[in-house]
Amino acid sequence: MTLNPALTDKHIRLLQAGPEDFETIKGLLERCGLYTSSVTPEGSTYWIAELDGIPGGCIGLEHGVGASLIRSTAVVPDFRGHRLGRALVLSALTQASLRGDETVYLFSSKAGDYWQRFGFVPSTPAEVEAAIPDAPQVKSGVLRGWIQDEQVWKRAMPQPRAAG
Ligand SMILES: CC(C)(COP(=O)(O)OP(=O)(O)OC[C@H]1O[C@@H](n2cnc3c(N)ncnc32)[C@H](O)[C@@H]1OP(=O)(O)O)[C@@H](O)C(=O)NCCC(=O)NCCS
Repeated sequence: MTLNPALTDKHIRLLQAGPEDFETIKGLLERCGLYTSSVTPEGSTYWIAELDGIPGGCIGLEHGVGASLIRSTAVVPDFRGHRLGRALVLSALTQASLRGDETVYLFSSKAGDYWQRFGFVPSTPAEVEAAIPDAPQVKSGVLRGWIQDEQVWKRAMPQPRAAG
């Protein structure tokens, strides 16, 4: 098997963000041209991905009841293509699975092809609003009126069957 050299000589590390890391997260999002207004540690888990010790990407998971919302997936341009994005997405999906979520949603109008790689399929604003109305990004979309114009994606989370 031929390995891509760009993927073999770099060290990726994921860190779960604490409240003190949100300035770093907002800086990463701004460098990627993404909104930061409803980014909050309340009811959410965020991760930062480092490449060779330098913060290069982030992701958030907003928690609902039986469902979560992935948001703020961003890798700064110079760090793209090293699988930081993949590491971040898999971390968020793992936590969603561990907390027992049946469905994970996200908003993405421009990167649908990326999300389909992870098993996401199209959904609707009405569905995400009904499933996780209190998620900060959903509330922001309703309040600011952009939710109807966004493409929503969802992924069913297989849960292990109870023994016996
Ligand atoms: C999408 C993003 C997070 C990917 O980060 P990354 O660390 O480069 O991702 P990975 O290294 O895990 O994956 C790279 C692969 O994804 C593909 N890809 C990247 N952005 C894509 C997009 N918008 N649509 C489809 N595919 C995309 C690349 O072409 C590459 O393909 P390959 O594996 O065939 O070479 C990054 O490009 C980014 O921050 N983009 C701007 C913000 C954004 O679009 N966020 C996600 C939408 S909410």
